[in-house]
Amino acid sequence: MTSKNNGRGLWASRMGFILAASGSAIGLGNVWKFPYITGQNGGGAFVLVYLACIFVIGMPIMLSEFTLGRKTQLNPVGAFKQLAPGSLWNLVGFMGVLAGFLILSFYGVVGGWTLAYIVKSITGSSVHFSSPKEAGEFFGAFIANPGEITLYHFLFMSLCVGVVIKGVHGGIEKACDILMPTLLLILFLLMLRALTLDGAMEGVAFYLKPDFSKITPEVILIALGQAFFSLSLGMGAMLTYGSYLPEDENLISATFYVVLFDTMIALLVGMVIFPAVFAMGMEPAEGPSLVFSVLPAVFSEMPMGNAVSVVFFILLLIAALTSGISLLEVVVAYFIDEKGWPRKKAVLAMGAIIFVIGVPSGLSFGIWSDVKLFGMTFFDHADNIASNYLLPLGGMMTAIFVGYIWGTDSAQSEIERHKTRFHWVKVWAFLIRYVTPIAVALVFLAKFFK
Ligand code: PHE
Repeated sequence: MTSKNNGRGLWASRMGFILAASGSAIGLGNVWKFPYITGQNGGGAFVLVYLACIFVIGMPIMLSEFTLGRKTQLNPVGAFKQLAPGSLWNLVGFMGVLAGFLILSFYGVVGGWTLAYIVKSITGSSVHFSSPKEAGEFFGAFIANPGEITLYHFLFMSLCVGVVIKGVHGGIEKACDILMPTLLLILFLLMLRALTLDGAMEGVAFYLKPDFSKITPEVILIALGQAFFSLSLGMGAMLTYGSYLPEDENLISATFYVVLFDTMIALLVGMVIFPAVFAMGMEPAEGPSLVFSVLPAVFSEMPMGNAVSVVFFILLLIAALTSGISLLEVVVAYFIDEKGWPRKKAVLAMGAIIFVIGVPSGLSFGIWSDVKLFGMTFFDHADNIASNYLLPLGGMMTAIFVGYIWGTDSAQSEIERHKTRFHWVKVWAFLIRYVTPIAVALVFLAKFFK
C-alpha cells in the first residue's frame, strides 16, 4: 500500500477522513456564499432547487470522486491517466487543477475578510454598531481599502501554505477535529438570537416558502454551481482526499456524512441570516457583503456580542482554511505527482502565484470596482467561470467517465473492496449514467439558448 501510495501518507482514522472531507466541503461556501446567492435568487425556491442538486447530482458524484481517488491513489490528472491511458480524459483532471487555481484566488480574498474581522472584533472596532446600516458601511469601507484587503488576503494565503507544506495528516486532519461541533453549536445559538428578533418571521418565510415563479434556467445553473462548490465537487478535491484513504474505509457512509454535515451547516446559516436580514430591515439581495454586514449587526444586539463575534470569526476562519487547504492541495498534488516537484517547492510556488492572481479580485470591491467586462467585476468572473462552468462540467465529465469509461462495475468493486455491501448500487449507477450528465447538459443548454 505504502509503495503504491508513493509515500504520500494516509488518513490516521476513519473519523479523520470524514472530518477532513467535511472540512473541505464546509467553508465560506456555506456561511458566506449560500446566504448571499439565496438572497439574490429568490429565497425558498432556490433552496429547494439547491437541495435537489445536492442529493440527486452532488451525492453520486462525491462517491465517484472518492472511489476514483482511492482506486488510483493519485491526483486528478494522474487518476484519469492511469484508468484511461493515452486518452484525453486527463484533461478533466487539468480542468480541475485550473478550477482549484481560480477558486482559491478569490476564496483567499474572502478568507482575508474573515481574518480581518477577527482582528477587528478583538480590537473592538467591528462590533457595537448602533444600526445595521452602520455595520454595512463599515464593511463597505473596509473592502474598498486596497492595502488592508491585500494584506489580509496575503496572510490568509500564508496560513494555507503553512498547513499544506506539512502534508495531509500533520496539518489538514488535525485542523478539522474540533471545528465542526463548535461551529454547529455557535450557529445554533446565533439562530436562536436571530429568530427572536422582532420581525424575524418575515425572513423565515422568505427562506422557507418557495415562490416558484423565481425559478429560471439561470437560477438553476447557479443552484447547481453552488451544490458543486459547497460539496467541493467537480475539480478533483474529493478525488485527491480519497487518494489518501486506506482500503477499509466505507466510502458510502463517508459520502453520506459529508453531504449531511455540509447541508446542515448551510441550512442553519440561512436560518441565522434571513430572519436577521428582515428583522433589521436590510436587503436580502445585497450580494457578497451580506453576511459581513448582517452578522456584526446581530452581534451588536447580543450580550457579550464582542466575544461571540471573535469566536464566530475564528471558527469561520478555520472553516475557510480547511477548504482553502483542499483547493491548494489539488494544485500541489498535481505538481508533486506529475512533475516530480518536492512538496515545499510546489506549495510555495503555487501559493504565491494564486495569491497574485487573486489580487485583482480583492480590488474588485474598491479601486477596481469599475473595471468590468460584461457588467461583472474580476471577482465575479473568477467565481462565475469556476463555480458555474468548470465545476459542473468537471462533475459531468467525472460522471460520464465513471458511468461509461471506467464503468460502474469497476467502481462497484472498488467501493465494495473491504466487505462493504453497496445496496444502492443500481440507483447510484442510474444517477451517474443518466441523470447527472443529462441534467447538467440540460441546464447548460437552457442557459445558452434561453
Ligand atoms: N466547498 C468549499 C466551501 O464551501 C469550497 C471548495 C470548493 C473547496 C471546491 C474545494 C473545492 O467553502
